[in-house]
Amino acid sequence: MLALVVLLALTLLAIPPSRLLMEQWANADVLSRSRLIFGSVQGPVRRALADGDDERLASILAGVAEDDRVLAVGLCDAGGTMRGATSMMPPDFSCDSAARSEAESFSHIVQDGRHVFVATFPVSTPAGNAYLAVLNDLSYIAERTWQIQIYVVATLLGFGLVIGGAGAVLIFYLLKRWAESLRQAVENARRGKRLPAGRDMSGIERQIALLFKEIEATRGRSETAEVKWSPQSLHDLLATTLPDAEIIIVSNREPYIHNRRNGAIELQTPASGLVSALEPVMRACGGTWIAHGSGSADRDMVDAQDRLAVPPSDPAYRLRRVWVSEEEQNGYYYGLANEGLWPLCHIAFVRPAFREEDWRFYRTINQRFADAVAAEATTPDPIVLVQDYHFALAPRMIRKLLPEATIITFWHIPWPNAETFGICPWKEEILDGLLGSSIIGFHTQFHCNNFFDTVDRFIESRIDRETAAVTLAGHETLIRPYPISIEWPPAALKGQLPVEACRRAVRERFGLAPSACIAVGIERFDYTKGILDRMHSIDVLLTLHPEWRGRFTFIQVAAPTRSKLASYSRLQDEALALADEINARHGQDGHQPIRLVVRHHEPPEVFELFRAADLCIVSSLHDGMNLVAKEFVAARDDEQGVLILSTFAGASRELTEALIVNPYDARSMAEALNAALLMPADEQQERMHLMRQQVREQNVYRWAGRMLLDAARIRQRRRVLALAGSAL
Ligand code: F6P
Repeated sequence: MLALVVLLALTLLAIPPSRLLMEQWANADVLSRSRLIFGSVQGPVRRALADGDDERLASILAGVAEDDRVLAVGLCDAGGTMRGATSMMPPDFSCDSAARSEAESFSHIVQDGRHVFVATFPVSTPAGNAYLAVLNDLSYIAERTWQIQIYVVATLLGFGLVIGGAGAVLIFYLLKRWAESLRQAVENARRGKRLPAGRDMSGIERQIALLFKEIEATRGRSETAEVKWSPQSLHDLLATTLPDAEIIIVSNREPYIHNRRNGAIELQTPASGLVSALEPVMRACGGTWIAHGSGSADRDMVDAQDRLAVPPSDPAYRLRRVWVSEEEQNGYYYGLANEGLWPLCHIAFVRPAFREEDWRFYRTINQRFADAVAAEATTPDPIVLVQDYHFALAPRMIRKLLPEATIITFWHIPWPNAETFGICPWKEEILDGLLGSSIIGFHTQFHCNNFFDTVDRFIESRIDRETAAVTLAGHETLIRPYPISIEWPPAALKGQLPVEACRRAVRERFGLAPSACIAVGIERFDYTKGILDRMHSIDVLLTLHPEWRGRFTFIQVAAPTRSKLASYSRLQDEALALADEINARHGQDGHQPIRLVVRHHEPPEVFELFRAADLCIVSSLHDGMNLVAKEFVAARDDEQGVLILSTFAGASRELTEALIVNPYDARSMAEALNAALLMPADEQQERMHLMRQQVREQNVYRWAGRMLLDAARIRQRRRVLALAGSAL
C-alpha cells in the first residue's frame, strides 16, 4: 500500500516537468517547420510578386496551407496590404498585427480561443520588404501534451507495478527459503542431526542448536517429577540450562563470620534460616556471595578487594564483604529493616516504627550493595539472587546498573495484606524497588496473593494473575511461590552419634534421668517465634496433667539476636522471668521443667539436641517458612519424635503430619503436647517417615533449582525474541 502511494506521488510529481518539456519541444517544432515553409516558397512568392500574378501567389500559398498544422498563410506586400491570404486566415488578422522587421519574427496570438503561433519572414521586393505570415495552429500541442502526460503516467505506473511485483515475488521467495531453512535448522536441532560433512553451521543455526539444548535440558528437569535434587543435580542443571551464567547472591547476613575472642579469631556460622538454605546452594553452584561483614575480625580475613574464599576449610565460592558503619547499621538494619519492615510483615502485634533517617540509611546501604554487585559482576547478565527485606530497593538499583541481569529476589518473611502494608510511608518506593526484579519469590501462594493485592492497591501497573506477572513501565516481573527448605542430607548430621547416644549425652548434660521426656525449642530469640506462648502452654500442660511434673523438661535454646532493640531485650527479660515463674510453680525435687539456654549453638550441637528430643516445638506467631521444623525432621533418621508446629508458619503447609497448633491458644497447645508425649512409637514413625520424605524431595536444591529454571526460561525467551528480531 505504502509502495503504491509512493509510486502515485512520484507519478504526479513527474507531470509538470513532462508538460514543460513537451511545450518546449512543440514550439521548436513549429518554428523549424515555419522556416522550412518559408525556405521552400520564398523564391516562387518573390517571382509571383514581381510578375504581379496574384492568382499564382494565391495558389502557392494555398499549397502551403494544405498542411494540417498550418492554419493560414498570407503575404503583406510592401504597402501593407494582405494578398493571397488562404481561406482560414482570421478576418481580424491584418498586416498591421503582423510583426514586420528586417529579420524573421515570431509571436503568439489567441484567435477565437485557440493558440496561434505567427511566424513572419521578410521577402525583399523592388518596392521594399513584403512579409510572409505563416499562422500555425497550436491546439494540437495541448492535445499532444495531454496524450504524453497520459503516456508518462501510464508508463511510470506500469513500470512501478512491474518492479514492485517482481520485488514482492522475490521477497516472498526469499522469505519462504528463510522460513524453510529456519524450519530445517529447528528440525535438525530438535533431532540432534549432524550437518553434511563439509558444511558448517551458520550463526543462526548454531544459536538455535544451543537454545534447543538448553530448552531440552530445562524441560527435562522440570518435567521429571522424580528428579532427585542434590548438589550434583543442581550443579548439572546449571551446566546444562545456564552454561556460563554467573551467580551472585546479595544478603545482609554473611555465611561465615570471623569474630575476635580472647585474642584469637573464631569462625561462626550464624543462626539464620537464610544462611542454612543458601550456603549449600552456593557450595554446589559457586559464584560470589555479597554480604555485610559484621564480625569483629572480618576485616582481618579479607584480601585487598574485601574478598575471601569460603568455606574456609574447603573453598567453593567467594564471599565479598561490604562494610557498614555503626550509624548506618542502626538506621538500615536495626531501624528500617527490623523495627519497620519486620514487625510490618509479621503479624505479632508489635508496632512498626518508621523514621525518616532510617529510610535514608536504608537507601544508602541498598545502593552500596547494588554497586558491589556491579563491581563483582564479570558478565553483563549475571543471575543475581537478592535476599530478603533488607534489600527491597536493590533490585531496581541493580537493574539500572546491569539492565541485562536476571534478578531473582526472595522475600524470606511473610508478605502482609495490602491494608497492613499501606502503613509503610515508603510503600510505593519499596514496591517499585522490588519490581526491578525479574522474579520475586515468596514461600507460599498466599504471600504471592497478598503481594498482588498490594501492588494493585498502590502502584499503577498491569497485573496478570493468570501468568502471575506484574508489568511496570514495560518491565515484567514474575511472582512465584518457592517454598524454601534445607539441604538433604544435612551436613550437620555427619558425625552425629546414634540417637540413643545423643539422648544419653543430652540427659547427662542437663542432669536429667535417663527416662526423662524432653521437648526442645531452638531458634533466635525473636518475638515472632512464640517462645512465651509455648511456655504458657507448658504451664497449662503441667497444670492440667500434673503427672508430667518431674518427668518432662522443655529445653529452650535461644540465640540472642537484635538485642539492641527494646522489643527484643524486653522479650528476653520476659522469657527469663516467665521460665522462673513456671519453674517455681511446677518444679519439684530440684527438677526444673523449663531450661532456658541463651546462647548461639553451632549446627552440630543443635542436631544433637534434635536427636535427643521426644518432641520439638515450633510455635511461631507468624513465620515465612521456619526451617527449624524441617531441620528437626531431617535430624531424625530414626523416624521417631513428634513435631508440634504452628499453623502460622509456612512449614505447616508442607509438614502436614506434624501436630498443627494455634500458639495463641495455650490450652489446645497443651493438649497437643500431651498427645505428643503419649504418641505411640509406630504413629511417630509413620508421621516422621512422611515428613522426612517431603523434606528429602522438596529440599533446598529443588528450591534453588526451580528458581534457576525459571531464570533460564526468562533468559531463553529473551534470546528467542532477540533471535527473531535479528533474523527479520
Ligand atoms: O527470617 C528472615 C531472616 O532474614 C531469615 O532469613 C534469617 O534466618 C533471619 O531473619 C536472620 O536474622 P538476622 O540476620 O537479623 O539475625
